[in-house]
Amino acid sequence: MLENKIVYLNGEYLPLAEAKISVLDRGFLFGDGIYEVIPSYYGRLFHFQQHLERLENSLAAIRLANPYTSEQWHSLLEPLLDAGRNQYIYLQITRGVAPKRDHAFPENVQPTVFAMCSDIVPFAGKDTGIKAVTMDDSRWKLCNAKTITLLANILHRQDALDQGSAEAILVRDDYVTEGAASNVFAVIDGILVTPPKGNDILPGITRDVILEIAHKNHIACREDIILLSQLKSADEIWVSSSTREIIPVVELDGQPVADGKPGPVWQQMDQLFQAYKQSL
Ligand code: PDD
Repeated sequence: MLENKIVYLNGEYLPLAEAKISVLDRGFLFGDGIYEVIPSYYGRLFHFQQHLERLENSLAAIRLANPYTSEQWHSLLEPLLDAGRNQYIYLQITRGVAPKRDHAFPENVQPTVFAMCSDIVPFAGKDTGIKAVTMDDSRWKLCNAKTITLLANILHRQDALDQGSAEAILVRDDYVTEGAASNVFAVIDGILVTPPKGNDILPGITRDVILEIAHKNHIACREDIILLSQLKSADEIWVSSSTREIIPVVELDGQPVADGKPGPVWQQMDQLFQAYKQSL
């Protein structure tokens, strides 16, 4: 039962149903916190150091001190993992429970630390591809931090779902940023392109792994801006994330992407990605 699943909350491991936080928690009142999503394949955390580096950057962006060292994080998360399953850790840190609701940072308050582990359910449509729709990116200028303040992202995702698509691809001033909960890749004139890191995208760990695999396997790639018009005429479009891996987009804004089937570069990358996971 889901309620019996053991989670971590502020120093304790306890059943999910017993994990409770105060309504004065700043995560609840203000969305004042950050999170990480870390895959674990058969009990081994995938690219753990990179996830921790991003966690450190997210904490720095909201001016919250990292409560633990890498080793401490590892020992804290390990008891949640099951060596027989593919899972992901959801880890959230908020600024904690303040005595009253006040926008200013509270003093002498312990952060709230919560972690739980869930199974990675293979994403339906991975092999056949998904539909996506483009829309104006309504988010702020802190997209590089993995903040729990995700209202704009969920509105974008829901907007896509309401239009019969699985993902929203966000566009700012005519250039593509990322998906509502994913990074974006396109194959343009035979080259794999993904938007460069900056304040308007989350530096995805899957994105980094894809670029690393491309370099190692001599797949031509570059980090560069993608104009909406270039996306619309791309030979392939993919979205990537820790929980869904690499998903081909076969229809964009109601039009097929190339021949409307997952493309050869995606096929190659997906195989290399699966082999890479196995090798770790
Ligand atoms: N989200 N961009 C956004 C806005 C995201 O929310 C995510 C992932 C990514 C991909 O990052 P990574 O490859 O490190 O998972 C890019 C997670 C999975 C989530 O919010 O559940």
